[in-house]
Amino acid sequence: MGELADKTALVTGGSRGIGRAVAVRLAADGALVAVHYGGNRAAAAETVARIAEAGGRAFAVQARFGDKGAMDRLFRELTAGLADHGADGLDILVNNAGIHSATAIGQLTEEEFDRLLAVNVSAPVFVVQRALPLLRDGGRIVNMGSAATRIANPLQIGYTVTKAAPAALGPSLANDLGRRGITVNTVEPGVVLTDMIAHYAEVPEAVARLEAITALGRIGEPADVADVVGFLAGPQGRWVTGQTIDVSGGTYLGPIAAG
Ligand SMILES: NC(=O)c1ccc[n+]([C@@H]2O[C@H](COP(=O)([O-])OP(=O)(O)OC[C@H]3O[C@@H](n4cnc5c(N)ncnc54)[C@H](OP(=O)(O)O)[C@@H]3O)[C@@H](O)[C@H]2O)c1
Repeated sequence: MGELADKTALVTGGSRGIGRAVAVRLAADGALVAVHYGGNRAAAAETVARIAEAGGRAFAVQARFGDKGAMDRLFRELTAGLADHGADGLDILVNNAGIHSATAIGQLTEEEFDRLLAVNVSAPVFVVQRALPLLRDGGRIVNMGSAATRIANPLQIGYTVTKAAPAALGPSLANDLGRRGITVNTVEPGVVLTDMIAHYAEVPEAVARLEAITALGRIGEPADVADVVGFLAGPQGRWVTGQTIDVSGGTYLGPIAAG
């Protein structure tokens, strides 16, 4: 039996990239995982199938954040899916779904920024709000921020501003929920090889530049992040709350000596 046997989890954006790796990790530890997706049903089905093939339990739930009624739909599908599997509460919430935009301040439009706010800020806040009645004492919330908030990059200004929200949310929520034994933490990945940065990873010079400023000398893999989320979500993470954890392999820590 895994450490998360009898636990349930919701991973937003669990269908692809980092979220998929988190869903796979939590299921491998024994949790029943709700794999949320926005529109790509095939990717969610693929994640659920991978989990099932490995002997785990998962089901897909769909809601496009930013659309009217998305929260109602998400929690309707979540409670129905849990009931189908003989479960009725939530132990782990991973707010991972997010969108990127590569835009400098001069080109950022209100429409683009509103979209970033809707998916990267409003959605995690209201997913937490709606999850609270389901979340059992001793539960876990992990929100996905970004090391972009620490490393200045004028070319993704809207994204950077919205990815600061999870770290801002964490301590207050941790204080609010701590007496129920619920921990709240933020994970801030550096660049991770997913569809989100596929365009970047195709440029060898960009990859080389990133490797040169990263202590561990490579770009991250989704599992590098999922293992930290797995730790925070599991029993060994019980005494960590209100924290923001950089998971970037040491990107841009300072000068790296040559040779
Ligand atoms: N990759 C990186 O380098 C990196 C670095 C730092 C932080 N992060 C953060 O890590 C998280 C995951 O990133 P990723 O690289 O794994 O992204 P990804 O591969 O692009 O996957 C994004 C996930 O979010 C879902 N999603 C996107 N828009 C949505 C919407 N409007 N409504 C509902 N779901 C939506 C997608 O589902 P559908 O496909 O069905 O829409 C998908 O499951 C994000 O919060 C991102 O900001 C990523």
